Amino acid sequence: MKFYTEEGDYDVVGNNTPVFFIRDPLKFPDFIHTQKRNPATNLKDPDMFWDFLSLTPESIHQVTILFSDRGTPKTYRHMNGYSGHTFMWYNADGDVFWVKIHFKTDQGIQNLTRQEAVKLAGEDPDHATRDLYRSIEAGQPPSWTVYAQIMTPEQVENYRYDSFDITKVWPHADAPLQPFGRMVLDRNPENYFADVEQAAFSPGNFVPGIGPSPDKMLQGRLFSYHDTHRHRLGPNYHLLSVNAPRGTTETNYQRDGAMRFDANGQGGPNYWPNTFGGPAPDPNAALPAIELSGAADRYAYELTDDDFVQPGNLYRNVMTDQDRENLVGNIVGHLRNAKQNIQLRQCALFYKADIDYGTRVAQGLELDRKNVEKTASLSQEERVKKTMP
Ligand code: HEM
Repeated sequence: MKFYTEEGDYDVVGNNTPVFFIRDPLKFPDFIHTQKRNPATNLKDPDMFWDFLSLTPESIHQVTILFSDRGTPKTYRHMNGYSGHTFMWYNADGDVFWVKIHFKTDQGIQNLTRQEAVKLAGEDPDHATRDLYRSIEAGQPPSWTVYAQIMTPEQVENYRYDSFDITKVWPHADAPLQPFGRMVLDRNPENYFADVEQAAFSPGNFVPGIGPSPDKMLQGRLFSYHDTHRHRLGPNYHLLSVNAPRGTTETNYQRDGAMRFDANGQGGPNYWPNTFGGPAPDPNAALPAIELSGAADRYAYELTDDDFVQPGNLYRNVMTDQDRENLVGNIVGHLRNAKQNIQLRQCALFYKADIDYGTRVAQGLELDRKNVEKTASLSQEERVKKTMP
């Protein structure tokens, strides 16, 4: 989402799930490679997909949501949106609050079963785009109520999880959803290429009052998107009408580059500081300082059994019997195409999240339950050793 505010563009580049597969941005390129095609066969490869996920146990929460029916929303109108990361909100006095944003669909959540999804993928792969376009055209604009979960710095300091870990949610009991707005999609693009294909969203586009958190994944994203925009759209992508601010004018000292199609700063100064009346930095855009401690170093995130608590609770306490049945069926239908040693390694992770969950996936894959249980009881290092090809 891009908000054309009076203080510049603010983008929310989130997802339809509240968590993500990894919490270390260094793993992101590898994760994306596993979603691509096998370099030899040029086929989507279940071994690549599940090998990586089973070697990345922190993915289990997102995998559980992705393979539930929420992974196949019925239409764009029937799904929620989430900021995922925690962000900083600060006020004029420099008070800091940590915030997660939720966009809850006013149409209600509706999902497809895998049988419906498989059918639609063949018969009408554009159904979701058509549904959204037609609803808006027919004067039935979909809307979302927008909520914030808010924690103070003291709460974050004492929280039982790392509040900046994107593989975890903040349970509503810890940080209740507080409504603060409504988003209505009431206008279709006039030209798809100009308005959608050329749009450039970045989690690094902030306006005064909003800033990033120390979430390492978010820190990894702050530069990555603009790098891509320069590659995908060119160095002056920010001047394209869909990306340029509408509530104010962009003032900076950037000049030149291919496809520079405005006046390029005319004869004004192209450096700061200057005594020729060029624009000054906005003091309101300065973020409040946050306290940091510890050694700056390169280190792997620790794997902990905490990673299995929230997916286990989701499976046991939030899902219905039907949800659980569909989840297990969706997983088995996909994981059965991977090699057996990978199946075993992944199934052990489901078992660690919840015994019933792991047992049912094991049954569907015709794996020996005792062996899954034994594999689940090992440390990740031992598990990997045991399940080597
Ligand atoms: C270190 C982690 C990540 C990196 C380096 C990364 C990088 C990227 C890049 C380079 C793009 C293409 C942007 C473009 O062409 O305009 C992209 C697209 C996207 N990413 Fe990420 N990403 C990361 C994690 C995430 C997470 C955690 C979320 C959601 C919470 C997310 C949501 C999206 C979305 C929605 C798009 C599509 C944007 C569009 O179509 O304009 N990404 N990502």
